[in-house]
Amino acid sequence: MKKVRCGVVGLGQIGPLHLDAITKVEQAELIAVCDLDEEKAKSYAEQYSCAYTMSFAKLIARDDIDLVHICLPSGMHADFGCLAAKAGKHVLTEKPIDVSLENADRLIKACREAGVKLSCISQHRFDPDIAYLKRAIDEGHLGRISFGASHTKWYRSQDYYDSGDWRGTWALDGGGALMNQSVHYVDMLRHLCGEIEEVQAYCATLAHERIEVEDVAVAAVRFRSGAIGVIEGNTTAYPGFVTRLDVYGQKGGVIIENDVVKEWKLEGLPAPASEALGGPSGASSAVIFGLSHQRQIADVAQAILDDRAPLVTGEEARKPLAVILAVYESARAGKPVRLP
Ligand SMILES: NC(=O)c1ccc[n+]([C@@H]2O[C@H](COP(=O)([O-])OP(=O)(O)OC[C@H]3O[C@@H](n4cnc5c(N)ncnc54)[C@H](O)[C@@H]3O)[C@@H](O)[C@H]2O)c1
Repeated sequence: MKKVRCGVVGLGQIGPLHLDAITKVEQAELIAVCDLDEEKAKSYAEQYSCAYTMSFAKLIARDDIDLVHICLPSGMHADFGCLAAKAGKHVLTEKPIDVSLENADRLIKACREAGVKLSCISQHRFDPDIAYLKRAIDEGHLGRISFGASHTKWYRSQDYYDSGDWRGTWALDGGGALMNQSVHYVDMLRHLCGEIEEVQAYCATLAHERIEVEDVAVAAVRFRSGAIGVIEGNTTAYPGFVTRLDVYGQKGGVIIENDVVKEWKLEGLPAPASEALGGPSGASSAVIFGLSHQRQIADVAQAILDDRAPLVTGEEARKPLAVILAVYESARAGKPVRLP
């Protein structure tokens, strides 16, 4: 089988998960890793029997790499992605695609001009229960949606923010609880309920020091369909609670907690576990962190092999970024902000 040959830059918290995932995806193969920290790069290279370098220029100059995974601080994604695209490499960035729409557009354009694929991690789209709910909504099982909410009730310690110079900065984190932690569930909300047209928000920094960005945010949102809803982003919710998605429609409602169905009140369509197990409805299995990265990397690799678009394109990844930036603008201006 033809495999997509991968290089990974950035071996901090999330990079190593990509290394592990690549080795478990049958269409992908790990060729080289890159980090400024030589010890880290060398030790992961030994662990995964691959090459290493501290120079990104050297990584993308290799002719045995097809796809570059960018696991660097968020505000570096577009700069590094553009360089990779210009070197003829397909690009997979971690989320968010970058921290400004200008940067996202620059990266989308560079990949289009170079004729390479661009994708951005939004792994929860590949969680089985969320994918099942998306299908149910698309097939009309919920009827007209009236309300959708995404709550990220998390906690991050002061030590977390102090652990990297880039964390909690506008330039490289691009925002706080919303941009870094909740971007996943903002994407899920619009993936499930459709595009968001207007937001009215409050943001605050209440439980942390030495950060420029918000650690708690709430927005009332109106979808293009006319439905309304709520976004909550939080890293102050000590000691950390669930993530939750609520979707209510004319014909029933669903609540997802920590990426699995918690309540499934729909006539005519069983809950996902009951479909999988062929038995009565019940709680489905917990989501194992890392598995959905594998599923998304497999989709990106297959998209390269088949020369088709990946499930999450650059244009799709730009949308949750636009919503979050509109939330920030609304909180700053103290008035509703419409998305174009
Ligand atoms: N999908 C998820 O669930 C998830 C989870 C965590 C982080 N992330 C995203 O992943 C990205 C990285 O976050 P993190 O927490 O792993 O950051 P981190 O600070 O832990 O790691 C960043 C790594 O990049 C390296 N680096 C920095 N500049 C470099 C350069 N010029 N060349 C090579 N290496 C360089 C650093 O040495 C460090 O090892 C962020 O965009 C974040 O939003 C996604």
